[in-house]
Amino acid sequence: MSSFWDTFAGIYDLSQMVFNHSVNEQMCKALENEIPKGAIVLDCAAGTGMLSTAAAKNAKKVLCTDLSKKMLIQAMKKSSRLGIHNIAFAKRNITALKDPDNSYDVVIAGNVMHLLDDPEKAFSELVRVTKKGGKIILPTYVTKESGFFFKLCISVYKLLGYGGREMNTEEYLNFIAENAEKNGCYEYSTRLLLGNIPAGFAVIKK
Ligand SMILES: C[S@@+](CC[C@H](N)C(=O)[O-])C[C@H]1O[C@@H](n2cnc3c(N)ncnc32)[C@H](O)[C@@H]1O
Repeated sequence: MSSFWDTFAGIYDLSQMVFNHSVNEQMCKALENEIPKGAIVLDCAAGTGMLSTAAAKNAKKVLCTDLSKKMLIQAMKKSSRLGIHNIAFAKRNITALKDPDNSYDVVIAGNVMHLLDDPEKAFSELVRVTKKGGKIILPTYVTKESGFFFKLCISVYKLLGYGGREMNTEEYLNFIAENAEKNGCYEYSTRLLLGNIPAGFAVIKK
């Protein structure tokens, strides 16, 4: 999976800007509003760091992680360019995090759950490393609800090795509800961010 992202790393931000700028902007704003001042944050599958840099505005420290080294290099360059200095970077597999239990105030995993072979395992890892009283934030594109042109683009990505599963809003909400409750988290909220490729935005309290 990471080889597709390694290949795509150099043009990821450009494609996001062209295809889904409005949804990504809403996502960053919604995320920023969820980060308490001084929080210690883990961003998993952070890609080129879009959500890490948004979180860094309020956070004390953000650890920006991904399986793809090339995506992480792009994230590093972006945070330097933006003059953000409270982000550190590390390679991590979201399904086998190296962090001890109860390490972070906020754990983010944006736009990755639909890419994983074992999203349930990743979900329980995210809950495990979140402090009691902390939150897990899981924005995810609901690609089944994008327009014809964007579905066509996703089909082209698939020819190039993109392995994402399509989800609609109902499937996303079911995934969040089932996994939150299975992991003992009964307080969660979701909302929908509308645009070319809409996204669900779930916040789960541990
Ligand atoms: C669609 S991008 C999302 C990037 C970022 N979270 C965002 O919203 O802009 C998906 C990212 O998930 C990463 N990824 C895929 N499988 C992973 C895994 N098992 N562990 C960590 N990262 C993974 C990819 O390398 C890629 O950077």
